[in-house]
Amino acid sequence: MRESWQTQIGLIFSAAGNAIGLGNLLRFPSKVALYGGGAFMIPYFIALLLVGIPLMILEWVVGRFAGARGKGSMVGICGELFNHNLLARVVGSLGVIIPLLIVCYYIYIESWTLAYGVLSLFGHLPEGGAQMGPFLEFFKSFIAPSKTAVLFLIITLLINWVILQRGVVKGIEFTAKVGIPALLIMGIFLSILTLSLGGGKGFEGLLFVFSPDISALKNPQVWLEASGQVFFTLSLGMGAIATYASYVKSNQDVLKAGFVTAGLNEFVEIVIGASIALPAAFALFGAASIPELAKEGTFRIGFVSMPAVLMSLPFGELLSAVWFLLLFLAALTSSLALAQPVIALLEEELKLSHSLSVNITMILISFGAFLSAYVPNFIDELDFWAGTFMLVFFALLEVILFVWIFGLTKFHSELTRDAFIRIPKPVLYFFGVVSPLFLIALLYQWGISKAPQVLLNLNTDIIIARVFIVLIVFSVIAIAIFKKGEPKYS
Ligand code: PHE
Repeated sequence: MRESWQTQIGLIFSAAGNAIGLGNLLRFPSKVALYGGGAFMIPYFIALLLVGIPLMILEWVVGRFAGARGKGSMVGICGELFNHNLLARVVGSLGVIIPLLIVCYYIYIESWTLAYGVLSLFGHLPEGGAQMGPFLEFFKSFIAPSKTAVLFLIITLLINWVILQRGVVKGIEFTAKVGIPALLIMGIFLSILTLSLGGGKGFEGLLFVFSPDISALKNPQVWLEASGQVFFTLSLGMGAIATYASYVKSNQDVLKAGFVTAGLNEFVEIVIGASIALPAAFALFGAASIPELAKEGTFRIGFVSMPAVLMSLPFGELLSAVWFLLLFLAALTSSLALAQPVIALLEEELKLSHSLSVNITMILISFGAFLSAYVPNFIDELDFWAGTFMLVFFALLEVILFVWIFGLTKFHSELTRDAFIRIPKPVLYFFGVVSPLFLIALLYQWGISKAPQVLLNLNTDIIIARVFIVLIVFSVIAIAIFKKGEPKYS
């Protein structure tokens, strides 16, 4: 039998674990700070409503449909929806390629969070006294990578390996049922702590961060970044949600599941994610530090300024351990979700055993993770292609394929089956037109503003990264073409 989520709450926590990740706690605050504070939130909410939530529901609907027919990877899902059409399967390959490429660097960053958590628990982080300098030096030498970094990368890979071997219910669902409640408690605790820093200075920081800078709205880059963030944080446009949705029982209310997943994720993003790292930096280092920090990258806020702030408080080591454990749990439940589409592909298209599928997947990921550790710019290159460009592109293909080519009427009847509310057909028409137009506009902007400069920027590191990307792309497409796998389970 193909596995399915054991309990309703387990399903919700697993889906929340999929979406909630480093995107919420690190990527979001740094984007907000970089792109105009409150102004960032306007395109953010527009993208959330026009494409984020519709796509979330869409992936749940097609995932359930194909799951009932024994398929869970996007290759298999597209096959099921389109009568095993080859082109559809090739397009679906992107829904396996993207998460596989992302997890290669995501898991390396995940290993930093584990390392920093353990090191601060045992008192091995520098004594900063609210000085960022020592932390910065430590961070730089750590990711160089040091022996400690490599050790923790191996530990992180092993943790993921063991959980994935245990399967969907005993592995992923179990981890989420423990991890997500713990994450919520720690997140709320740290939010209250940072907002009350310096007798309310933290809260002032929150207001500062969100005070709108309307001029930012004229900048197309802000729109791009805000929409990209919506996809990244909701795990959309890469098949990861659809794969989890394929493990539901066939009468599951996927509409509700989609709304709950998006709701929990946005709570952790807008409420918790916004309340911790930036207000903390504001309270201690002042308003001017915020854009400065953000400019230096996603990681400075989380790995440099945050421990500096926390270590200056009583029980600082413990508090900073809580922060990194929070990040680790968020990252772990997401890296499992990024690996699962590949596992489903190997199991269901190549008919490999679960254990062998996990082993192959993890060997590939380990290889990519070591490249991320040793090849400079590898992370950025993969994050651009997989984490930004392909994601929007695949989201566009998804809407066209699943709504228009699959057929609006067929899609609508899938959407309204077993759902707590009946979405009227005109709403579907609206999103079926508006979402793709929005995505096309986005891609067009991207194409003219970023692509040329990115494509022409070449050196050995970047070539290594691109060769890696091309190899993964071709391998997955080859599987999609040559194995027209019939369902393994009946
Ligand atoms: N949504 C996750 C985050 O915010 C990242 C992710 C993307 C996880 C795709 C799984 C699949 O960090």
